[in-house]
Amino acid sequence: MCPNMSVVGMQWGDEGKGKIIDLCTEEFDVIVRYQGGSNAGHTVVVGEKKFVLHLVPSGILHERKLCVVGNGVAFDPPLFIEEMEGLRREGVEIKDNLKVSDRAHVVFPYHKVLDQLGDGRGGDPKIGTTGRGIGPCYTDKMARCGFRVAELLDGEHFREKLKWVLEAKNLEIRTRYEQDPLSYDEIADTFSGYAETIRPFVADTVTLLDQEMKRGARILFEGAQGSLLDVDFGTYPFISSSNASACGVSVGAGVPPRAVGKVLGIMKAYTTRVGEGPFPTELTGDHGEELRQKGGEFGATTGRPRRCGWLDAVAVRHAATINGAANVALTKLDVLSGQKNVNICTAYRCNGETLTHFPANTAVLDHVEPVYETFSGWDEDICGARKFSDLPSEAGAYVRAIEDAVELDVEIISVGSERDEIIRV
Ligand code: IMP
Repeated sequence: MCPNMSVVGMQWGDEGKGKIIDLCTEEFDVIVRYQGGSNAGHTVVVGEKKFVLHLVPSGILHERKLCVVGNGVAFDPPLFIEEMEGLRREGVEIKDNLKVSDRAHVVFPYHKVLDQLGDGRGGDPKIGTTGRGIGPCYTDKMARCGFRVAELLDGEHFREKLKWVLEAKNLEIRTRYEQDPLSYDEIADTFSGYAETIRPFVADTVTLLDQEMKRGARILFEGAQGSLLDVDFGTYPFISSSNASACGVSVGAGVPPRAVGKVLGIMKAYTTRVGEGPFPTELTGDHGEELRQKGGEFGATTGRPRRCGWLDAVAVRHAATINGAANVALTKLDVLSGQKNVNICTAYRCNGETLTHFPANTAVLDHVEPVYETFSGWDEDICGARKFSDLPSEAGAYVRAIEDAVELDVEIISVGSERDEIIRV
């Protein structure tokens, strides 16, 4: 049996993966990020300290764990350097326990500029991106005009290639968006400097992970964003531009498909999403605001308020199917304390029909009406619960109803942000 595990978000991101990954890390030797980039924000609370990690795998907060930024990550050198320095200031040791794939693609300033200028302009739908250059970086990767980290480290080649790439980008910036072009010298010089800072961390992570597996190391693959933001299976085009589901592990980490291991899905006890796009169970008005405040639902990367709503089991079932999730960790159950009733959307109604599967045409979701099952709420503060039997009976019944609705067993319940606020079911 493969000893590895992949931890993925089952909704639109922000499911609380950081905490669960942190909790599971002890049992693994290597922690690998396989997709996304600085658009992600994994929050981990350790004692008095709160860490928000964007690029560095959260395993870095544990001693003697090898952390790898895989080839599938959109790698932002200045942000990576800043994040490393911030961690070191907090006393986190970073030496040869952190490696960056030489095949990861580099995010450049023109990616950020084009991301920010392009979102919702000229007839394109507004996605509400994080503005971190993620979409344009992956676009260039596929269009064969991106830079692998290995190319950035090859000074002469980098400077030469940057000339024609930047010329094309500046043409777009000037003509399509009527903005000032970016300076070649500035990018060439600053990124040559970053190259030297990151050089000691860059490795052939394909060989490294292969060697680790051969020596019997256990690998934890850390997903960012969520399955409904997956470029192939999410609410296209309102997605992030990577394969955030477990399907992305093999290609994004550079390991064979058989190495993906058990898939643990992370889902929130309700639903949130940031940015634009359909959200059938969204609660607008005071009710949505109440959940947002209670759950602290503000983006870890951009600070934007997250849209909040009831649990959408149709969407989670879709995610479960794609991921082949074995079990789920249910997070933020405590946030629902105080609700008179709690709802689970088990199907959609659309033009007189009942839909139980997630549609490929996202536009359909704009017109569906959620079919809810309603359960009694509970008033008790459940942060102190450590066993399933400590939960009020209504909260327990809600968890069991979720298991039925998403057709998966709940393995872990998180009832607060601290490391120990957890129930193992
Ligand atoms: P991008 O990844 O910046 O291109 O943004 C595309 C969409 O994904 C936007 O709706 C973002 O709000 C959303 N998104 C990107 N990263 C995250 C995340 O880590 N959590 C939640 N939503 C995200």
